Amino acid sequence: MEFHVITLFPEMFVALDAGLLGRARNQGRIVLTTHNLRDHGLGNYRQVDDAPYGGGSGMVMRPEPIAAAIDAVAAAHPGLVKILMTPQGAPFTQAAARELAFADGLMLIAGRYEGFDERVRTLADREISIGDYVLSGGELPAMVVIEAVARLVPGVLGNPASLDEESFADAALLEYPQYTRPEEFRGMRVPEVLLSGDHGKIRAWRQSEARRRTARRRPGLGGAPRKA
Ligand code: ADE
Repeated sequence: MEFHVITLFPEMFVALDAGLLGRARNQGRIVLTTHNLRDHGLGNYRQVDDAPYGGGSGMVMRPEPIAAAIDAVAAAHPGLVKILMTPQGAPFTQAAARELAFADGLMLIAGRYEGFDERVRTLADREISIGDYVLSGGELPAMVVIEAVARLVPGVLGNPASLDEESFADAALLEYPQYTRPEEFRGMRVPEVLLSGDHGKIRAWRQSEARRRTARRRPGLGGAPRKA
């Protein structure tokens, strides 16, 4: 699967050289390419932003450099889903990641400054927000989307079974509590059932713990009933 990012800060994406994703890239399972928006900037100063019409503080990203960058990437790599990273977008969820993992590739557009010219919205297929807070740019949000989607690509995870067990796998439950050695740590013992070797019992315990944890911590998750 291919990921193409349009950004003013390509150097930030070295973060994705590490770990699972770095390995998947070395193996050729995923391709990550950054495209510097500055290359499409206007005039001698390669300007990409300007003052807002109507006044106000901060700068707004002009539409022409972004349009030129999107057109160039789309011409060289047809079929990418174009995603604008913005706090005004649809909330990013595991369900959205699963859906995007079916695409041949994604084009992620990361802005800076106070925001995009409104007309930029017409250039993207969808808009995604990674949460209700404002970052100074779309780079970290783009990396979040890449990380969440890439690990769903077949062969990227060492052990695909872990995909089924983790939080949000069925979009309804948080993950059950996990333990490893030692059996006792600072007075806290590993629950007896996990040492029992009874796999049926263990499965039942994990299910009920996952349900209990979800009800307590995230009562609205995946349509789980809210506490009265
Ligand atoms: N750009 C700035 N903040 C963002 C957010 N929360 N989600 C997506 N893009 C953003």
